[in-house]
Amino acid sequence: MGKLAVINSPPTRSHSSAAQLLLVSLFFSSLAAGQTELRPGFQATPDGSISSFQPILKDPSGNFSLGFLRVNSSQLALSVLHLPSLQPIWAANPTPASPSWSDRTRLSFNGTLVLSDSRRGILWSTSQTDPGDAVVLLNTSNLQLVKRNGAVSVTVWQSFDFPADTLAEGQNFSSAASLVASGGRYAMRLGDDFMALYADFDGDGAADRIYWKHKALEARADVVPGQGPIHARVEPEGFLGLYQNGTGSTPVDVQSFNSFRRRVSGFYIVRVEPDGNLKGYNWDGANWVLEYQAIPDGCSLPDPCGSYGLCRPGPTCSCLDSGTEPDSNQPTSQCLPAPTAGNLCNRIGLENVDNFRVLRRIGVDLPFKELTSYITTPSLGECEGSCERNCTCWGAVYNNASGFCYMLDYPIQTMLGVNDDSKFGYFKIRNEVASKVDEKKMGSGARVGLVFLCLSVLVLVGAVGVVCVRAWKKHRRGRNRILEEQEGVSAPGPYKDLGSDSFRSIEMGERR
Ligand SMILES: *[C@@H]1O[C@H](CO)[C@@H](O)[C@H](O)[C@H]1NC(C)=O
Ligand SMILES: *[C@@H]1O[C@H](CO)[C@@H](O)[C@H](O)[C@H]1NC(C)=O
Ligand SMILES: *[C@@H]1O[C@H](CO)[C@@H](O)[C@H](O)[C@H]1NC(C)=O
Ligand SMILES: *[C@@H]1O[C@H](CO)[C@@H](O)[C@H](O)[C@H]1NC(C)=O
Ligand SMILES: *[C@@H]1O[C@H](CO)[C@@H](O)[C@H](O)[C@H]1NC(C)=O
Ligand SMILES: *[C@@H]1O[C@H](CO)[C@@H](O)[C@H](O)[C@H]1NC(C)=O
Ligand SMILES: *[C@@H]1O[C@H](CO)[C@@H](O)[C@H](O)[C@H]1NC(C)=O
Ligand SMILES: *[C@@H]1O[C@H](CO)[C@@H](O)[C@H](O)[C@H]1NC(C)=O
Repeated sequence: MGKLAVINSPPTRSHSSAAQLLLVSLFFSSLAAGQTELRPGFQATPDGSISSFQPILKDPSGNFSLGFLRVNSSQLALSVLHLPSLQPIWAANPTPASPSWSDRTRLSFNGTLVLSDSRRGILWSTSQTDPGDAVVLLNTSNLQLVKRNGAVSVTVWQSFDFPADTLAEGQNFSSAASLVASGGRYAMRLGDDFMALYADFDGDGAADRIYWKHKALEARADVVPGQGPIHARVEPEGFLGLYQNGTGSTPVDVQSFNSFRRRVSGFYIVRVEPDGNLKGYNWDGANWVLEYQAIPDGCSLPDPCGSYGLCRPGPTCSCLDSGTEPDSNQPTSQCLPAPTAGNLCNRIGLENVDNFRVLRRIGVDLPFKELTSYITTPSLGECEGSCERNCTCWGAVYNNASGFCYMLDYPIQTMLGVNDDSKFGYFKIRNEVASKVDEKKMGSGARVGLVFLCLSVLVLVGAVGVVCVRAWKKHRRGRNRILEEQEGVSAPGPYKDLGSDSFRSIEMGERR
């Protein structure tokens, strides 16, 4: 089982017993093999007797397979697995929830590949595109929906355009896509001339806090503004390249792997790990060999020691509140209870000093502070004061030498421990009792106020709607020709479906 240990498996499938079962079922399935193409009319449901992976479609090399992967014992993921290592390379992203491993769940193909649940309806499909004639799995791990016209085959949908947490060798990663770590807390995206990692620190579901950035070095070619977005690709020569004009062109950036240009054989992948790092691996035929990591230093990871933790080089973890230490036997343990999402404002948006208590510590610094904005204050007291008075501020880090004051507008994550007495940390800890009292104080009076507010908003929305509909009707009478023209040039894509009356009236209101 050493294979699985080399690459950090997602938490959902790290048990070696599960891997053993998977090997057993793979042995049988390799006899039955799975088909190489799905044609219209195809249907599959999970087999209750399979404990790990049910292959559905295989690639010509036999290295990859699309199938149902059992997760959390009773759920499934529609995944493309790298069979020699049992590593998922791609997974469909169903909404609203994971399908269950039961005969309620069905994968069907009728021109569109559809994953559905007999009670909850369609959970995932390739429906944003034209229907195709067949589904195939390429030897690159790319799952494709193709339309055939005689000998010509056109790809109408491909999994390479919708990556999960992994980028496979040869896969184009565009600035429209994002790699999202299992757990959903961290993501990698491209900017105009850089690639970056982002975290969802405030639990609102949007990974929007940057914690690592690599700007294109432009050693061989420059990024030309206005010449279109950049894209990334893992190259078989052993590097992660950034390109502007097309993957055949000269890269604007090369992040080389350990085996760069040594012409090792194998299969490279790059993955956003559950801890927020970005790592590259090569499958050498027996193991996933670590080739690259964006963040080599453990303390520079976004949250290595948990909320209110303190990281020192090593890395070793302790707690900001030095009276407590995280329990090393329990990797998920926290120094202090992780603050729930949100801020320290009370319900009507004002600060409430009773909501929190304060923790101060000397010798702390902010990780990735070069990516964080700051204000300059003449003293520590003023830095703390501007955080204290601001209920969206969770803490501040002050450098007494430079006067830089960093205010944190997200719940406190791991801080850095430094041997520097001119660096001060000020942290708010939500006082759960106080916030409950605060909720009670809200009581009936405030609730009546809220209801009144909601009702007013509803009335306002209704009035705006009436005005819009009237404006629209007037418009339709007078400007039918213009409407036709505008519809003719309207952009393709998912928003086309929003062609309701109200949507058009907004669009035309803007154009006037
Ligand atoms: C599987 O992939 C490896 C590269 O990782 C390749 O050398 C091998 O030929 C592939 N296996 C088959 C059966 O094609
Ligand atoms: C599996 O269960 C864990 C904890 O119960 C949950 O956090 C995770 O989202 C689940 N995974 C899936 C794929 O539903
Ligand atoms: C295929 O099935 C889905 C779900 O049942 C349905 O929404 C879609 O219209 C069907 N497509 C075709 C081309 O029949
Ligand atoms: C993958 O398929 C292409 C043709 O589609 C072929 O040229 C290439 O050698 C194959 N690679 C492997 C590893 O089988
Ligand atoms: C992309 O093409 C444009 C012209 O088409 C050229 O000016 C630019 O230098 C090219 N950029 C790269 C990175 O090759
Ligand atoms: C990647 O993008 C280039 C142009 O940018 C295109 O020629 C190539 O076919 C794409 N590769 C895949 C696998 O989509
Ligand atoms: C900050 O630095 C100033 C001198 O630069 C010093 O007088 C002051 O005591 C320092 N404050 C703290 C809290 O160490
Ligand atoms: C409160 O702090 C946030 C950032 O933490 C800042 O954007 C906002 O302007 C501050 N508000 C006031 C009133 O200073």
